Amino acid sequence: MTTTISSATGGLSVRNLHKTYPPDIVALRDVSLELRPGEFTAIIGPSGCGKTTLLKIAAGIESYQRGEVVFAGERVAGNTSWKRSVIYQDIRLFPWLTAQANVVFALESKGLPKAEARRLAAQWIERQGLRAYADAYPAELSGGMRQKIGVCRVLANEPELILCDEPFSALDWTARESLQLELLRYWYEQRKMVLFVTHNVEEAVYLAQRVVLMSARPGVIKEIVDVPLPEERWDVRRDSPQLLEVARYVNNHIADEVRKAQLAEQEVGY
Ligand SMILES: Nc1ncnc2c1ncn2[C@@H]1O[C@H](COP(=O)(O)OP(=O)(O)OP(=O)(O)O)[C@@H](O)[C@H]1O
Ligand SMILES: [Mg+2]
Repeated sequence: MTTTISSATGGLSVRNLHKTYPPDIVALRDVSLELRPGEFTAIIGPSGCGKTTLLKIAAGIESYQRGEVVFAGERVAGNTSWKRSVIYQDIRLFPWLTAQANVVFALESKGLPKAEARRLAAQWIERQGLRAYADAYPAELSGGMRQKIGVCRVLANEPELILCDEPFSALDWTARESLQLELLRYWYEQRKMVLFVTHNVEEAVYLAQRVVLMSARPGVIKEIVDVPLPEERWDVRRDSPQLLEVARYVNNHIADEVRKAQLAEQEVGY
């Protein structure tokens, strides 16, 4: 079954998307998804169901065979743009540049004059509480600090669509919570679009306005769940009954999909 949210100009529109990796691995089958401008959407689904593939296609770094992907009126088909940025689980910083110089570099690449780039980079690093580490090199930072700088580097460029591929899953709880709030704050203040892949149900429900549930491979969108919580999520307790109710629903879906994936594997004789 294919589910569609109301269509949107300026949003992300994925229509009947089909992706096969050679020789014949069907990663996405007939996926359609309409995301409105300014929407924070999470994607949850079993491992291998095509979430990363979908993000890469939306970023323009992966090709596809059939269907159409349009962002802000522009067809995305292997063309990258700073407007569509990916935040990976393990953001690679340039090891030969300091933390601050990494952020400055990204801003200059987008065309900002050096002085302005330096001012903005310092502001973002300060916001993350890392001023004391601005002149440190990546090898001198902890994993959490590196990820924070990487996130600064992406957000400082003010992308229109932020594609997040499990960006906080390797972090300890404090770094994870601080980056979740930073991303929420960016989204809330700037009204940009976020598409956030995670395996963590609580994280999906805490951050997103809608959670897209995908089936086991090949990826098909099974359902889109509304999260009836206020946009000011920092006011929401993580153990609030509403949040837990949506999380329970999503968890049940995942348990069903995992069971189906296991049965399918047994049938093909794994
Ligand atoms: N470059 C590639 N070449 C061949 N097959 C690939 C390639 N990338 C992904 N696949 C396959 O496509 C399917 C979807 O992969 P994808 O990485 O999109 O899944 P995912 O949902 O992100 O999984 P996970 O939750 O484990 O990150 C998988 O079966 C995977 O093996
Ligand atoms: Mg993935």
